[in-house]
Amino acid sequence: MAENYASFNIRWLLMDSAVRMKALVLSGGKGTRLRPLTFTCAKQLIPVANKPILGYVLDQVAATGIKEVGVIIASETGNYVKEYVKDGSEWHFNVTYIPQEPLGLAHAVKTAQPFLAQDSFIMCLGDNVTGQGLKTFIQRFQKEHLDALIILKEVDDPSNFGIAQLDDKGNIVRLVEKPKTPMGNLAIIGTYLFSSKIHQAIERIKPSWRGELEITDAIQEMINLGFTVKAEILDSWWLDTGKKDDILSANAKILDEYIEREVKGKVTNSSIEGRVKIDSEAKILNSTIRGPCVIGKNTLVQNSFVGPYSSIGDNSQILNSNLEYCVILENVVINDVEHLQDSLIGKNAKVMKNQKNRTIRLHIGDYSEVEV
Ligand code: G1P
Repeated sequence: MAENYASFNIRWLLMDSAVRMKALVLSGGKGTRLRPLTFTCAKQLIPVANKPILGYVLDQVAATGIKEVGVIIASETGNYVKEYVKDGSEWHFNVTYIPQEPLGLAHAVKTAQPFLAQDSFIMCLGDNVTGQGLKTFIQRFQKEHLDALIILKEVDDPSNFGIAQLDDKGNIVRLVEKPKTPMGNLAIIGTYLFSSKIHQAIERIKPSWRGELEITDAIQEMINLGFTVKAEILDSWWLDTGKKDDILSANAKILDEYIEREVKGKVTNSSIEGRVKIDSEAKILNSTIRGPCVIGKNTLVQNSFVGPYSSIGDNSQILNSNLEYCVILENVVINDVEHLQDSLIGKNAKVMKNQKNRTIRLHIGDYSEVEV
């Protein structure tokens, strides 16, 4: 009984201080690797399974009970982010928008310092999704009174990430941003927990070769200063959705994990197989839809096959076509295309048949028109 009461109190304390932590969500940057979509949209707002990636990140932040969330935005795309997140009431937290020039993740923390004040915080990159919630990280960070907790995951291409070298006991030996000669394959993923001591470390670092204040350098500096920095290896999936193929993989992963069968639209003379979500006012006519996939509101699929791992946005038309493993945004027309695969199609785009019948691979942006 006494033990139960004590553990209840510890849980209550953890929850209470979790609420007092802040969150910093990075939704700025230029998204150059996802052009042309990022000319008219923030990279964090590209949808997977018909919901912006940033939405999944904010869901995870909201689930921790944190009530004060700073959102870093860029001048080019900040308004799109504001339009989506608004005042945060959809997630039951308060939002403070913090404009930042894209000068690095540590620069983002520095810019957010007036918002963060002396509070501990969890920092999440708005275009990184994981299959795991944030609560257990917060609990460990608080229980062990850490100054930083970084989360790691094995990758095949370590030169593209911040990399951590650990000793046999799992302690961090050193951290290097995008090492040319990697000293391991454990990448630092886009989830970090910090005490206010991070600000001292950031004051001491200089911009890297790419002209950015690197958070990896700041964490290394925390280690140099003798602060308590720990690492944890993520035991679920992690996707950094910086490029077209990453968006397609994230889409497949999210469809696999979250989509349940739900048919709201009108289905006529068609076969709906497996976990397929069809939104209201969608029309499926003389077609086969094979899950997992989602079809948006007011979208028409006619005389077509929509195969696994496809997401089709609102107000689109898929006519006399076959497609699979595609992410298609809103107001798109796909007409007479024999086999469309592995493609990311931006808003208002049209893909139509010309003369030849071949499988094609596309990466086209908003308002593009392609004849195939
Ligand atoms: C940034 C960090 C890097 C980290 C990566 C995770 O890289 O600098 O340490 O591994 O995010 O997505 P960037 O996206 O700026 O290249």
